[in-house]
Amino acid sequence: MQPTFSPKARLASRVLGTGRFIPEKVLTNQDFERMVDTSDEWITTRTGIKRRHIVAEDEATSDLAARALEDALEDAGLGKGDIDALVIGTATPDMMFPSAACVVQDHLGLPNIPVFDVSAACSGFIYSMMVANSLIAAGQFERVAVIGAETLTRITDYEDRSSCVLFGDGAGAVILGPGDGERGVMAVYAGADGSLTRLLKMPAGGSRAPASIETVQNRQHYIYMEGSEVFKSAVRAMVSSAEKGLELAGIGPEEVDLLITHQANIRIIEATAARFDIPKEKVLINIQEYGNTSAASIPIALDEAREQGRVPDGAIVLAVAFGAGFTWGSVVIRF
Ligand code: ACO
Repeated sequence: MQPTFSPKARLASRVLGTGRFIPEKVLTNQDFERMVDTSDEWITTRTGIKRRHIVAEDEATSDLAARALEDALEDAGLGKGDIDALVIGTATPDMMFPSAACVVQDHLGLPNIPVFDVSAACSGFIYSMMVANSLIAAGQFERVAVIGAETLTRITDYEDRSSCVLFGDGAGAVILGPGDGERGVMAVYAGADGSLTRLLKMPAGGSRAPASIETVQNRQHYIYMEGSEVFKSAVRAMVSSAEKGLELAGIGPEEVDLLITHQANIRIIEATAARFDIPKEKVLINIQEYGNTSAASIPIALDEAREQGRVPDGAIVLAVAFGAGFTWGSVVIRF
């Protein structure tokens, strides 16, 4: 099926503000050299990662999400009572249920608006943007908060050197409001292939394999990833998602002012940019500081980019993600 984007959804919403929250504690590549059989040189050249931030003992995903949302509301000049719905993309909610969004609602004292999580792993922010943009396009809601928040380090196996060096924690948020006909979400594209779930998952803790002594002993409550298989699919899906996003937005790659991809591996980011001849200065890379923060990576990067003046008025941002499922997607936004 060809991707579509309803004319009604085009520029239906625009970004009113962005925010982020990054936990203070840091794990460096040197720390990992003391924990597993690895080296700074391997991690840097194979992934681009130098450091990652780790949630505090007494913090959970909702705590990071709430701080990011407060930051975004402040940036938008809005209060807690000004949003009509809250969507959180996360694969690491505080618990199976209720949603991380309900915990954030309680934590911040948000009014009784609808709040819910979207589960699409590293593509969670793009999927959440698709939902939020559609809610606004449908005319049911005026302002929707979208958060990507994650504490992957809570489900990271620190005895598995091939995956433990990759992940970090954090949260980013965007407040979407009504488009003004010029600025806003020009296109959203998303897709999935559920036949590849086996390559990247947390095997236990759900209804298929509830927590038991065996699941804990078999380390099944941690991320399981077949890295090199995932890598190949990631590059393919990032490139085709970017292509579809551009096509739906009706623009060419040369019109993109900033490419923000999910930060999973610097080699995936560079391969995606190279495919479209997007020069280095138009590609946001912050993986060296945060590692892979899953659904949080794009909104964190977007907030940083705006702070650094890399998203002036009129700039077009292409954001692209790929994650477990497999899921993938892109969003094109004119600021
Ligand atoms: N330090 C040193 N050596 C290592 C390490 C390490 N930390 N990890 C693996 N190696 C070794 C392997 O054992 C292997 O050794 P061998 O050749 O003797 O068997 C060698 O390095 C190469 O291993 P590969 O797995 O082939 O390494 P690769 O170049 O593929 O890099 C990586 C691994 C970084 C995981 C890469 O495959 C990757 O980034 N994959 C994609 C990750 C991704 O995009 N995930 C999606 C989002 S995550 C989400 O949705 C939750």
